[in-house]
Amino acid sequence: MCGIVGYIGEENATGIIIEGLKKLEYRGYDSSGIALCTKENKLLVRKKKGRIANLEKMIKGEDLTANLGIGHTRWATHGAPSDVNAHPHTDMSGKIAVVHNGIIENFMELKKELTEKHGVEFKSETDTEVVANLIGVCYEEEKDLEAAVYKALKRVRGSYGLGVVCADEPDKLVAARKDSPLIIGLGKRGNFIASDIPAVLKYCRQIYLLENNEMAVIKENDVKIYDADHKEVQREVFNVTWDADAAEKEGYEHFMLKEIHEQPDGIRDTLVRRMDDDGEIVLDGINLTKEDIENFDKVYIVACGTAYHAGLIGKYAIEKLAKISVEVDVASEFRYRDPFIDDKTLFIAISQSGETLDTLAALREAKKKGARVLSVVNVVGSSVARESDDVFYTWAGPEIAVASTKAYTTQLVCMYMIGLYMGRKKGIVSDETYRKYIDELMAVPEKVSKILDQEEKIADIAKKLYTKNGVFYIGRGIDSAVSYEGSLKLKEISYINSFAIAAGELKHGTIALIEQGTLVIAIATQDKLFEKMLSNIKEVKARGAFVMAVAKEGNTAIEEESNEVIYIPQCMDEITPLLSIVPLQLFAYYVARNRGCDIDKPKNLAKSVTVE
Ligand code: M6R
Repeated sequence: MCGIVGYIGEENATGIIIEGLKKLEYRGYDSSGIALCTKENKLLVRKKKGRIANLEKMIKGEDLTANLGIGHTRWATHGAPSDVNAHPHTDMSGKIAVVHNGIIENFMELKKELTEKHGVEFKSETDTEVVANLIGVCYEEEKDLEAAVYKALKRVRGSYGLGVVCADEPDKLVAARKDSPLIIGLGKRGNFIASDIPAVLKYCRQIYLLENNEMAVIKENDVKIYDADHKEVQREVFNVTWDADAAEKEGYEHFMLKEIHEQPDGIRDTLVRRMDDDGEIVLDGINLTKEDIENFDKVYIVACGTAYHAGLIGKYAIEKLAKISVEVDVASEFRYRDPFIDDKTLFIAISQSGETLDTLAALREAKKKGARVLSVVNVVGSSVARESDDVFYTWAGPEIAVASTKAYTTQLVCMYMIGLYMGRKKGIVSDETYRKYIDELMAVPEKVSKILDQEEKIADIAKKLYTKNGVFYIGRGIDSAVSYEGSLKLKEISYINSFAIAAGELKHGTIALIEQGTLVIAIATQDKLFEKMLSNIKEVKARGAFVMAVAKEGNTAIEEESNEVIYIPQCMDEITPLLSIVPLQLFAYYVARNRGCDIDKPKNLAKSVTVE
């Protein structure tokens, strides 16, 4: 959610930092700001509530020339969105400026001490201003920024990605991280810090990933990284291979639409990169042996939002293929119910960003209890990936739109592959079943493309229905899991109140809400449950519902019961979620577009939720 960019080098920092912050806008924010250290030892701080455009307007025409600076996009945690709460924050002397991602847990106690002992008068409600002042007090004692940051961080509890500058030391930028991502970019005409790689990709492809409890001193031509004991550590350079253009819209009106269209490639990449020439699944970087797999007596899948919905499908896939009991939990609840976990548990964390704090906290809890942790993650080198025993990377490419689409379908592919891999190792998936799954999965990208060809038809349906106020998504079996994701897509980007429920549950209460004109979206792709779904559709139709159905090609009986039908290509029942979600994503997109919503950055939402 919050974003950090910093620069030190030959160029003017202002433009570079603002440009970098714009690359992080997709993470969601409510204010932005910049602090610059001039050669004349002046610290200039400018910050503004709202979009970065507001900040740009504010500084237009000002001479803000400096070779060192830090910038931030803030998503409010302590204190409301406002100019004064925006980062950077300065210490009382006005010499030191800090940008911070994360939460300082002991900020109240530190604030009290700084007020009572050092006479600090705070301007904002933020925990970050406490850090700035703590560093300021340490600077008075140490007369050296590096030493002051090191000393101050010893007193801090919580999570942070930090960028610190000091007017008296315009030759350096100090950075630190704990449980909040921070990278150092190595450029030709200077060096960078950033919370996310896209912010600096235009200038550098070589980066250092800062580890937990590390700090770094970054100069124009030099970077030094130190561990928690302030001993210098050597870090391997990480080369970013993905293209900066991959993070741009490429002609699509919104990132979400572009990402929906990227699904055939993402699914294909996720599949084929793990398949050898004989079509056998090779899980590179995953050391789950036959013995490990046979030792597991249960699997927990834990995630949030869309990733959690992928986990629901994972349950079906892994239970069926690997014959092992799977529990799926939302990460924010997992820790608080004392789950029964031991060294016979396989814990699977699913996360696009790999930075979702709830998922990370659940992972840590599971690890503490002895579970083997396998994560399914899109962002390479993210916290979830780094803290897992094994990582199964999705190959979705950068996902910018807040609404997750291609991450979901690639996560589903991983679920099927993990199920197949485990079943195969246990010797319970026959060659015939295995081949059938692989053939069906390999055909998915082509079938998704066929669904995407129906975009115009789906846009037309959306045009007729976008004014609906309440929408129900229903399905049976694996379709009910898809209905949750379809409903989430619609509500998060169109702000329509939508609700998903297993179709068989309707009659136990919810059907009372169906009235003349209520929109019901019925996912009816399961051959074995098709008749039952038809009955459910009849039930809601009888109460006046307008029904839009998603069904497999050929199951035309549904046309008689529904007002609109979108067909997906024929495939085995078990893998329909990979297809049936696509029309639901497009439908949500076009409904939101008709309603004039800010599709890529829906209100109140952030791409990466790094607070509990
Ligand atoms: O990065 P993660 O996959 O861990 O994020 C989890 C959820 O916040 C995320 O899936 C969210 O529900 C989606 N952005 C919704 O489209």
